[in-house]
Amino acid sequence: MIDVVLGLQWGDEGKGKIVDVLTPQYDVVARFQGGPNAGHSLEFNGQKHVLNTIPSGIFHEHCINIIGNGVVIDPVTLKKEIEKIAAAGANPKQNLYISEKAHLILPTHRLVDAASEAKKGEHKIGSTLRGISPTYQDKIGRSGLRIGDIISSNFKSKYDTVVSHHRELLDRFSFAYNLADHEPAFFDAIEFLKQFQIVSTEYFINNLIGKGKKVLAEGAQGTLLDIDFGTYPFVTSSNTITGGACSGLGVAPQQIKKVFGIFKAYCTRVGSGPFPTELNNETGELLRQKGFEFGATTGRPRRTGWLDLPTLRYSIMLNGVTDLICTKSDVLSGFAEVPVCDTYDMNGKLTSEIPYSIQDAPIKPNYRTFKGWSEDLTGIRNYNDLPENFRLYIDYVSQQVGQKMSVISVGPDREQTILI
Ligand code: IMP
Repeated sequence: MIDVVLGLQWGDEGKGKIVDVLTPQYDVVARFQGGPNAGHSLEFNGQKHVLNTIPSGIFHEHCINIIGNGVVIDPVTLKKEIEKIAAAGANPKQNLYISEKAHLILPTHRLVDAASEAKKGEHKIGSTLRGISPTYQDKIGRSGLRIGDIISSNFKSKYDTVVSHHRELLDRFSFAYNLADHEPAFFDAIEFLKQFQIVSTEYFINNLIGKGKKVLAEGAQGTLLDIDFGTYPFVTSSNTITGGACSGLGVAPQQIKKVFGIFKAYCTRVGSGPFPTELNNETGELLRQKGFEFGATTGRPRRTGWLDLPTLRYSIMLNGVTDLICTKSDVLSGFAEVPVCDTYDMNGKLTSEIPYSIQDAPIKPNYRTFKGWSEDLTGIRNYNDLPENFRLYIDYVSQQVGQKMSVISVGPDREQTILI
C-alpha cells in the first residue's frame, strides 16, 4: 500500500511539515521526483530543518527513507545535507536508501543551467539554477550518468564524455567558467556517497509493500509546475503529479491508495510565469511578510496572491486527491477582506477551465470576497474553535472544489495542526 503527498499549487505549500506530521503512520517515506530545487522545511523542538533531496521522514528513527529513481541528485548538496541531518541526530547510514537509477547532477549541469537562463534574458524561467533541467534533458536524451555508475571502474571516463558535450554547449553560450573550482568537491562527494545504501529501490520498495509496510511517497514542487500539465514553459522538468510516483519509484498504479493534496490558503509562486491572482501591491507585500514567503532553497521573495479555485480544481482532478490539506491558514488573520477567485472571466465569459496558455489568455479573476477575521489561529487545535469567518471561507473552498478538508495547518510546528 502506498499513499502519496503532493502540492496542488506552484510548490512551497508546506509539504515538508505535513509529511513530518504523517510519518508516524508510515514505515517508509520515498521521494519520487525533483532534486535540490526543493526545500522542504520541518520544524520541531523549536528547530527548523530544511531538506533538499532527503525524504522528510529522516528524523523519525523507525522510518526507512528512499530517494527514488525519479529524483536527480547533486552529490555535493546531498553530502552537505547528510552531514547536517546526522549532526541533528538522524541516522542516514541506517535508514537512507538511494536508487542506483537516480540521475547525477554534475557541476557542468549547473553551469549549463546558468548559461541557458542567462541567454533567455527577460524570458528566463526563473530556475533555481540547481542544474535540474540539463540533468533531466540528459536523462531523456539517454546520455546521463546515474548513481549506479559511481562504483564502476570507468566512472571517470563516462564523466569526461558527458562533460565534453557540456563544454561544447557552454562554448556555444560563450559562458565563462572554471570547472576546476567545482570538480574537487564533486569527486569528494562521490566518494562520500559510496558508504551509503545504494540499491535497486524498485525491488526494495515492492518487497516492503509485499510485507505489508506502509509507504508514503513525497512529491516536490507542485502540480502547476508539472512538466506536462503545469504552466509550460514556466515549469520544472519532472512529473510532479501522482502519476510521477509510479514512474519515479517503480510502483504499480493500483498500489496507490490515498492521495494527500496540499494547498496553501492563498497562492505563491517563485520564478517567472503566469499567476492570475497575483497581488502586485501592498496587500501582496503584507502576505509575503506575514507568511514569510521567501524561498527555502534560494531565499528569493515569493510572488503572492489570493487563492485560485480553477487551478485548485484542475490539480485535484489530475492527482485524484482523496484527502485535502490546507496550510498556512494562520497567515490570513488580520486582513479586512479575503477574496477567493472562483472562476476566470475571459472576455465576459466565466469559466473554470484552465486555458492552453494562461500567459496569453485574457484572464480576469472573478472573485468572491469573504469578511476577514482578526483572531490568531496558531493556538487552535479544533475545527470548531476556528473563527466563524474563517470557517465560512474554508467551507466555501471545500464546497467549490467538491472535497472535504482533512487537515488544516495553523503554523509551522508539528503541533500546530488541526485534524478533521
Ligand atoms: P527548476 O526546477 O530549478 O529548473 O525551476 C523551474 C521553475 O520551478 C522555477 O520557476 C522555480 O522557481 C520553480 N521551482 C523549482 N523548484 C521549486 C520548489 O521546490 N518550490 C517552488 N518553486 C520551485
